[in-house]
Amino acid sequence: MSHGNVALRQAAFGQTARRDAWWVQPLVVFLVFSGFVVYSTWIAFNGNSSYFYSGNGTHYLAPFYSPVLFDAPGVTSGHAWFGPAPSWWPRWKWFPTFSPALLILWVPAGFRFTCYYYRGAYYKAFWADPPSCGVGEPGFRGTRYRGEQKWPLRIQNVHRYLLYFALAFIAIFAYDAARAFIFTDPGTGQARFGVGMGSIILLANAILLGGYTMGCHSLRHLVGGGIDRLSGRPVRQRAYGCVSCLNRGHMKWAWVSLFWVAFADIYVRLCATGVWHDWRIL
Ligand code: FES
Repeated sequence: MSHGNVALRQAAFGQTARRDAWWVQPLVVFLVFSGFVVYSTWIAFNGNSSYFYSGNGTHYLAPFYSPVLFDAPGVTSGHAWFGPAPSWWPRWKWFPTFSPALLILWVPAGFRFTCYYYRGAYYKAFWADPPSCGVGEPGFRGTRYRGEQKWPLRIQNVHRYLLYFALAFIAIFAYDAARAFIFTDPGTGQARFGVGMGSIILLANAILLGGYTMGCHSLRHLVGGGIDRLSGRPVRQRAYGCVSCLNRGHMKWAWVSLFWVAFADIYVRLCATGVWHDWRIL
């Protein structure tokens, strides 16, 4: 049986035979992702950094600031690993004021931006590359466009290394969630177990981010994708099965965890500023 060469016809930008509303998905991705980037950038550079933890007997920590390596200037949160704001932080006029988020946000941000799923989504939504399946893309890239085989997009391969940092962050978020169930009695100063709305929100945050991270394509390759035979290796087989199970719903985990981490961050900040009072359940 012989195969002839099939000539691919270059469709004009936006040209398609599709009759469905193909533009809805990239538009929603564009709006949601842009909103998330604006919010996280504002939080990272927020001059008033004292609103990342709630007091009044609670130990809620805003996830965008976790882990707190150093406290914000003039703040003693009780969450900082290495104490007060670093004296080595540049104090030039044009340089951003120190905020704990500036030291750590590169991990979750880098991990999400290089995620295989998100790449497919934002290449369509932001670069129209192509705008959707079966829809013509802009012609300016010409024939030399090589995608992720060339710089600068080759940087996306850093995802497999960011995975190790992301896994460490999941352990930290789990610790934050456990700490959210400890309340300090304002009268006696004694710590005791309790449940507040913030405890549940931060627990759900750790679970959702865990589900997203543990379903990562790179992790799937790490635990079993790199070997030819899984049979006879029960531990790796089980691990591969678990990661594959989460991986099948990776898109859902990606969006739900994105929404939830922003919501958890806002919730803790509202409690910290006194705009919202945590609902104590137990
Ligand atoms: Fe999405 Fe790794 S592929 S987190």
